[in-house]
Amino acid sequence: MVADLVPCCNLVADIGTDHGYLPIYLVNKGICERAIAADINEGPLSSARKNIALTRVKDKIETVLSDGLKNIEKADCVTIAGMGGELIASILEHRKEGMTHFVLQPQRSYDVLRYFLAENGFEIKKEAIAKENDKMYCAFYAEYTGKNYEITENEALLGKSGLFEDDTLYKEYAEYRRKEIEKAIAQIEKAGAKGERYEELKRLLEIFSLSV
Ligand SMILES: C[S@@+](CC[C@H](N)C(=O)[O-])C[C@H]1O[C@@H](n2cnc3c(N)ncnc32)[C@H](O)[C@@H]1O
Repeated sequence: MVADLVPCCNLVADIGTDHGYLPIYLVNKGICERAIAADINEGPLSSARKNIALTRVKDKIETVLSDGLKNIEKADCVTIAGMGGELIASILEHRKEGMTHFVLQPQRSYDVLRYFLAENGFEIKKEAIAKENDKMYCAFYAEYTGKNYEITENEALLGKSGLFEDDTLYKEYAEYRRKEIEKAIAQIEKAGAKGERYEELKRLLEIFSLSV
């Protein structure tokens, strides 16, 4: 799903690459001419290096030890997948001139990331949802325009339905997220630990119930 959102480009930088599968796939398929596989930790980077060395595109992928975008000077497209929304937002604060296309796949705190994008001039152009076994994931494609815009809380939590290619999956995704909230509420009730978080979850449940 993440690869499908990446536009054809010269140079993609995958931040938090871990195994390096995404940049390998993108260059192998010819979606991107060259790639940078970056990670903050040496361990994942060395696993990426090993995987890259096994491919026919090894000369087109460079590995870089970098905290977010700090050591990345140039990229047409930046991909950041499998991290929390807060961390992705903090990485995007270091966007450099010329970095205009972004594919982002937060694991949680989708609302934090969507608010950050709206308040910092990144326009979400497309959203996608993937389903694997009993789990669902979402990802966005955004372009940096420098123009801020407003979004509703509902849009921050679930995305704009019109930006999803598959509306059926969007409804299923809203239901999936609603059930997750219900589970969290049930856990708190079972533990008898009702507090602020509980009240917030109850409020979110109402929003999600309206969206299903
Ligand atoms: C859960 S893995 C995700 C791997 C891959 N992107 C994916 O979606 O399958 C998160 C990776 O992000 C890296 N990471 C965490 N914080 C980072 C940061 N500030 N800058 C670069 N990489 C980071 C971790 O070392 C880890 O390899």
